[in-house]
Amino acid sequence: MTGQTPLSDTPPWKVSALTLFPDMFPGVLGQSLAGKALQAGIWSLEVTDIRSFGVGVHKKVDDPPFGGGPGMVMRPDVMAAAIDQAAKTMPADTTRIYLSPRGKPMDQALVRDLSQASGVMLICGRYEGLDQRVIEQAELVEVSIGDYVLSGGEIAAQVLIDAVVRLLPGVMGNSDAHQQDSFEDGLLEHPLYTHPRQWAGTAVPDILLSGDHGRIADWRHNQAKAITRERRQDLWQKWCLSQDMNKNID
Ligand SMILES: C[S@@+](CC[C@H](N)C(=O)[O-])C[C@H]1O[C@@H](n2cnc3c(N)ncnc32)[C@H](O)[C@@H]1O
Repeated sequence: MTGQTPLSDTPPWKVSALTLFPDMFPGVLGQSLAGKALQAGIWSLEVTDIRSFGVGVHKKVDDPPFGGGPGMVMRPDVMAAAIDQAAKTMPADTTRIYLSPRGKPMDQALVRDLSQASGVMLICGRYEGLDQRVIEQAELVEVSIGDYVLSGGEIAAQVLIDAVVRLLPGVMGNSDAHQQDSFEDGLLEHPLYTHPRQWAGTAVPDILLSGDHGRIADWRHNQAKAITRERRQDLWQKWCLSQDMNKNID
Protein backbone atom coordinates (compact mmCIF):
# COMPACT_ATOMS: atom_id res chain seq x y z
CA MET A 1 0.00 0.00 0.00
CA THR A 2 1.34 3.42 -0.97
CA GLY A 3 0.29 6.57 0.90
CA GLN A 4 0.46 7.83 4.45
CA THR A 5 -1.83 8.25 7.41
CA PRO A 6 -4.56 10.75 6.49
CA LEU A 7 -4.16 14.20 8.02
CA SER A 8 -7.93 14.37 8.57
CA ASP A 9 -10.57 11.87 9.68
CA THR A 10 -11.69 11.43 6.06
CA PRO A 11 -10.65 7.99 4.83
CA PRO A 12 -8.46 8.05 1.72
CA TRP A 13 -9.96 7.55 -1.73
CA LYS A 14 -8.80 3.98 -2.35
CA VAL A 15 -7.31 2.83 -5.64
CA SER A 16 -6.67 -0.84 -6.25
CA ALA A 17 -4.69 -1.32 -9.47
CA LEU A 18 -4.11 -4.72 -11.06
CA THR A 19 -1.20 -4.93 -13.48
CA LEU A 20 1.52 -7.14 -14.89
CA PHE A 21 3.92 -4.23 -14.33
CA PRO A 22 3.58 -3.14 -10.69
CA ASP A 23 6.70 -0.96 -10.93
CA MET A 24 4.79 1.33 -13.30
CA PHE A 25 2.83 2.61 -10.25
CA PRO A 26 2.52 5.24 -8.91
CA GLY A 27 4.51 6.44 -11.95
CA VAL A 28 3.81 10.07 -12.76
CA LEU A 29 1.26 10.12 -9.94
CA GLY A 30 4.13 10.11 -7.41
CA GLN A 31 4.89 13.75 -8.39
CA SER A 32 3.24 17.15 -8.06
CA LEU A 33 -0.39 17.48 -6.85
CA ALA A 34 -1.22 13.77 -6.98
CA GLY A 35 2.08 12.81 -5.35
CA LYS A 36 1.59 15.25 -2.48
CA ALA A 37 -1.99 14.04 -2.02
CA LEU A 38 -0.76 10.44 -1.92
CA GLN A 39 1.81 11.37 0.73
CA ALA A 40 -0.86 13.24 2.70
CA GLY A 41 -3.14 10.18 2.69
CA ILE A 42 -5.89 11.87 0.64
CA TRP A 43 -5.79 8.85 -1.64
CA SER A 44 -4.14 5.45 -1.29
CA LEU A 45 -2.83 2.96 -3.78
CA GLU A 46 -2.70 -0.80 -3.57
CA VAL A 47 -1.07 -2.58 -6.50
CA THR A 48 -1.74 -6.24 -7.28
CA ASP A 49 0.79 -8.08 -9.41
CA ILE A 50 -1.28 -10.22 -11.79
CA ARG A 51 1.77 -12.39 -12.50
CA SER A 52 1.72 -13.81 -8.97
CA PHE A 53 -1.62 -15.47 -9.85
CA GLY A 54 -0.20 -17.05 -13.01
CA VAL A 55 -0.47 -20.80 -13.53
CA GLY A 56 2.30 -23.39 -13.41
CA VAL A 57 5.99 -22.99 -12.75
CA HIS A 58 6.22 -20.27 -15.37
CA LYS A 59 3.32 -18.30 -13.86
CA LYS A 60 1.56 -18.17 -17.20
CA VAL A 61 -1.02 -15.40 -17.50
CA ASP A 62 -1.96 -15.55 -21.18
CA ASP A 63 -2.75 -17.99 -23.99
CA PRO A 64 -3.54 -17.77 -27.70
CA PRO A 65 -7.11 -16.82 -28.68
CA PHE A 66 -9.53 -19.64 -29.45
CA GLY A 67 -10.60 -19.38 -33.07
CA GLY A 68 -7.17 -18.16 -34.10
CA GLY A 69 -5.85 -14.67 -34.66
CA PRO A 70 -2.83 -12.67 -33.58
CA GLY A 71 -1.51 -12.08 -30.09
CA MET A 72 -2.36 -13.50 -26.70
CA VAL A 73 -5.38 -13.21 -24.40
CA MET A 74 -5.21 -12.78 -20.61
CA ARG A 75 -6.59 -15.95 -18.99
CA PRO A 76 -9.90 -15.67 -17.08
CA ASP A 77 -8.82 -17.99 -14.24
CA VAL A 78 -5.71 -15.90 -13.55
CA MET A 79 -7.58 -12.61 -13.78
CA ALA A 80 -10.44 -13.81 -11.57
CA ALA A 81 -7.99 -14.93 -8.86
CA ALA A 82 -6.22 -11.56 -8.96
CA ILE A 83 -9.51 -9.62 -8.87
CA ASP A 84 -10.86 -11.72 -5.95
CA GLN A 85 -7.69 -11.09 -3.97
CA ALA A 86 -7.71 -7.34 -4.68
CA ALA A 87 -11.43 -7.11 -3.84
CA LYS A 88 -10.76 -8.28 -0.27
CA THR A 89 -9.35 -4.87 0.68
CA MET A 90 -12.03 -2.83 -1.10
CA PRO A 91 -15.66 -2.06 -0.13
CA ALA A 92 -18.09 -4.54 -1.72
CA ASP A 93 -19.69 -1.85 -3.93
CA THR A 94 -16.40 -0.69 -5.48
CA THR A 95 -16.68 -0.07 -9.23
CA ARG A 96 -14.37 -2.42 -11.12
CA ILE A 97 -13.04 -0.76 -14.24
CA TYR A 98 -11.24 -2.57 -17.02
CA LEU A 99 -9.36 0.03 -19.07
CA SER A 100 -10.16 -0.89 -22.65
CA PRO A 101 -10.34 0.83 -26.03
CA ARG A 102 -13.77 -0.79 -26.46
CA GLY A 103 -15.07 0.90 -23.32
CA LYS A 104 -17.39 3.80 -22.61
CA PRO A 105 -15.39 6.99 -23.25
CA MET A 106 -14.05 8.51 -20.04
CA ASP A 107 -15.45 12.00 -19.43
CA GLN A 108 -15.61 14.56 -16.63
CA ALA A 109 -19.01 13.26 -15.46
CA LEU A 110 -17.55 9.79 -14.86
CA VAL A 111 -14.51 11.33 -13.16
CA ARG A 112 -16.77 13.39 -10.87
CA ASP A 113 -18.88 10.32 -9.98
CA LEU A 114 -15.76 8.33 -9.13
CA SER A 115 -14.42 11.17 -6.97
CA GLN A 116 -17.58 10.89 -4.87
CA ALA A 117 -17.19 7.12 -4.37
CA SER A 118 -14.93 5.57 -1.74
CA GLY A 119 -12.51 4.30 -4.37
CA VAL A 120 -12.10 2.30 -7.56
CA MET A 121 -10.55 -0.91 -8.83
CA LEU A 122 -8.59 -0.52 -12.07
CA ILE A 123 -7.65 -3.52 -14.18
CA CYS A 124 -4.87 -2.92 -16.66
CA GLY A 125 -4.90 -5.13 -19.72
CA ARG A 126 -1.93 -6.18 -21.84
CA TYR A 127 -1.54 -8.23 -25.03
CA GLU A 128 -4.89 -8.39 -26.89
CA GLY A 129 -6.86 -7.91 -23.68
CA LEU A 130 -8.96 -10.00 -21.28
CA ASP A 131 -10.99 -13.16 -21.92
CA GLN A 132 -14.64 -12.01 -22.30
CA ARG A 133 -15.86 -14.39 -19.59
CA VAL A 134 -14.00 -12.67 -16.78
CA ILE A 135 -15.20 -9.26 -17.97
CA GLU A 136 -18.77 -10.51 -17.58
CA GLN A 137 -18.38 -12.63 -14.43
CA ALA A 138 -16.44 -10.05 -12.45
CA GLU A 139 -18.85 -7.34 -13.69
CA LEU A 140 -16.09 -5.17 -15.08
CA VAL A 141 -17.06 -1.78 -16.52
CA GLU A 142 -15.02 -1.11 -19.66
CA VAL A 143 -13.70 2.46 -19.88
CA SER A 144 -11.66 3.95 -22.73
CA ILE A 145 -9.49 7.04 -22.50
CA GLY A 146 -9.78 7.72 -26.24
CA ASP A 147 -10.10 6.31 -29.72
CA TYR A 148 -6.58 4.99 -30.07
CA VAL A 149 -4.83 1.83 -28.89
CA LEU A 150 -2.20 1.88 -26.14
CA SER A 151 0.07 -1.07 -25.47
CA GLY A 152 -1.30 -1.49 -21.94
CA GLY A 153 -3.84 -0.17 -19.47
CA GLU A 154 -1.37 1.31 -16.97
CA ILE A 155 -1.13 4.76 -18.56
CA ALA A 156 -4.90 4.82 -19.05
CA ALA A 157 -5.39 3.94 -15.37
CA GLN A 158 -3.04 6.75 -14.35
CA VAL A 159 -4.91 9.23 -16.55
CA LEU A 160 -8.13 8.28 -14.76
CA ILE A 161 -6.57 8.44 -11.29
CA ASP A 162 -5.02 11.86 -11.99
CA ALA A 163 -8.33 13.27 -13.20
CA VAL A 164 -10.14 12.02 -10.08
CA VAL A 165 -7.49 12.90 -7.50
CA ARG A 166 -7.47 16.61 -8.45
CA LEU A 167 -11.17 16.74 -7.53
CA LEU A 168 -10.70 15.24 -4.05
CA PRO A 169 -11.14 17.68 -1.17
CA GLY A 170 -7.82 19.17 -0.08
CA VAL A 171 -5.91 18.42 -3.29
CA MET A 172 -6.21 21.75 -5.13
CA GLY A 173 -5.16 24.86 -3.19
CA ASN A 174 -8.27 26.73 -4.33
CA SER A 175 -11.14 24.30 -4.00
CA ASP A 176 -13.19 26.33 -6.51
CA ALA A 177 -10.50 26.16 -9.19
CA HIS A 178 -11.74 23.01 -10.89
CA GLN A 179 -15.25 24.44 -11.20
CA GLN A 180 -13.94 26.70 -13.97
CA ASP A 181 -12.18 23.87 -15.80
CA SER A 182 -13.17 22.75 -19.25
CA PHE A 183 -16.14 20.33 -19.21
CA GLU A 184 -17.29 21.23 -15.67
CA ASP A 185 -20.26 23.22 -17.03
CA GLY A 186 -20.28 21.47 -20.41
CA LEU A 187 -18.14 24.14 -22.10
CA LEU A 188 -14.41 24.42 -22.82
CA GLU A 189 -12.55 26.90 -20.66
CA HIS A 190 -12.26 30.58 -21.62
CA PRO A 191 -8.78 31.98 -22.55
CA LEU A 192 -6.40 32.76 -19.67
CA TYR A 193 -3.99 35.70 -19.29
CA THR A 194 -1.37 36.68 -16.71
CA HIS A 195 1.59 39.10 -16.37
CA PRO A 196 3.05 40.89 -18.23
CA ARG A 197 0.16 43.05 -19.43
CA GLN A 198 1.93 43.67 -22.73
CA TRP A 199 3.81 40.81 -24.33
CA ALA A 200 5.09 40.24 -27.86
CA GLY A 201 3.09 43.25 -29.04
CA THR A 202 -0.15 41.88 -27.60
CA ALA A 203 -2.11 43.33 -24.69
CA VAL A 204 -4.27 41.54 -22.16
CA PRO A 205 -7.94 42.28 -23.04
CA ASP A 206 -9.03 45.52 -21.27
CA ILE A 207 -12.08 43.89 -19.72
CA LEU A 208 -9.87 41.66 -17.54
CA LEU A 209 -8.23 44.75 -16.02
CA SER A 210 -11.53 46.55 -15.40
CA GLY A 211 -12.18 45.15 -11.92
CA ASP A 212 -15.84 44.67 -12.93
CA HIS A 213 -16.35 41.03 -11.92
CA GLY A 214 -19.83 40.78 -13.41
CA ARG A 215 -18.66 41.93 -16.84
CA ILE A 216 -15.56 39.75 -16.60
CA ALA A 217 -17.71 36.70 -15.84
CA ASP A 218 -19.96 37.52 -18.83
CA TRP A 219 -16.97 37.99 -21.13
CA ARG A 220 -15.44 34.69 -20.03
CA HIS A 221 -18.72 32.85 -20.47
CA ASN A 222 -19.12 34.24 -23.99
CA GLN A 223 -15.54 33.30 -24.84
CA ALA A 224 -16.12 29.78 -23.50
CA LYS A 225 -19.22 29.47 -25.69
CA ALA A 226 -17.39 30.75 -28.77
CA ILE A 227 -14.44 28.38 -28.29
CA THR A 228 -16.69 25.39 -27.67
CA ARG A 229 -18.82 26.21 -30.68
CA GLU A 230 -15.77 26.60 -32.92
CA ARG A 231 -13.80 23.57 -31.71
CA ARG A 232 -16.28 21.01 -30.43
CA GLN A 233 -19.64 20.91 -32.17
CA ASP A 234 -20.49 17.75 -30.20
CA LEU A 235 -20.11 19.53 -26.85
CA TRP A 236 -21.71 22.71 -28.16
CA GLN A 237 -24.84 20.93 -29.30
CA LYS A 238 -25.12 19.09 -25.98
CA TRP A 239 -24.67 22.34 -24.07
CA CYS A 240 -27.32 24.13 -26.15
CA LEU A 241 -29.76 21.31 -25.53
CA SER A 242 -29.02 21.42 -21.81
CA GLN A 243 -29.76 25.16 -21.80
CA ASP A 244 -32.92 24.64 -23.79
CA MET A 245 -31.38 26.85 -26.48
CA ASN A 246 -32.00 24.66 -29.51
CA LYS A 247 -32.28 27.78 -31.62
CA ASN A 248 -28.51 28.31 -31.25
CA ILE A 249 -27.58 24.99 -32.80
CA ASP A 250 -26.18 25.43 -36.29
C1 LIG B 1 -2.89 -3.56 -27.15
S1 LIG B 1 -4.24 -3.16 -26.13
C2 LIG B 1 -5.46 -4.31 -26.68
C3 LIG B 1 -6.32 -3.77 -27.76
C4 LIG B 1 -7.47 -4.73 -28.13
N1 LIG B 1 -6.96 -5.85 -28.84
C5 LIG B 1 -8.49 -4.00 -29.00
O1 LIG B 1 -8.31 -3.94 -30.21
O2 LIG B 1 -9.47 -3.44 -28.44
C6 LIG B 1 -3.75 -3.78 -24.56
C7 LIG B 1 -4.43 -3.14 -23.37
O3 LIG B 1 -4.15 -1.75 -23.36
C8 LIG B 1 -5.20 -1.06 -22.72
N2 LIG B 1 -5.68 0.02 -23.62
C9 LIG B 1 -5.30 0.21 -24.90
N3 LIG B 1 -5.89 1.27 -25.44
C10 LIG B 1 -6.67 1.80 -24.48
C11 LIG B 1 -7.56 2.92 -24.44
N4 LIG B 1 -7.76 3.71 -25.50
N5 LIG B 1 -8.22 3.17 -23.28
C12 LIG B 1 -8.04 2.39 -22.20
N6 LIG B 1 -7.21 1.30 -22.19
C13 LIG B 1 -6.54 1.01 -23.31
C14 LIG B 1 -6.28 -2.09 -22.39
O4 LIG B 1 -6.17 -2.45 -21.04
C15 LIG B 1 -5.92 -3.24 -23.31
O5 LIG B 1 -6.36 -4.47 -22.81
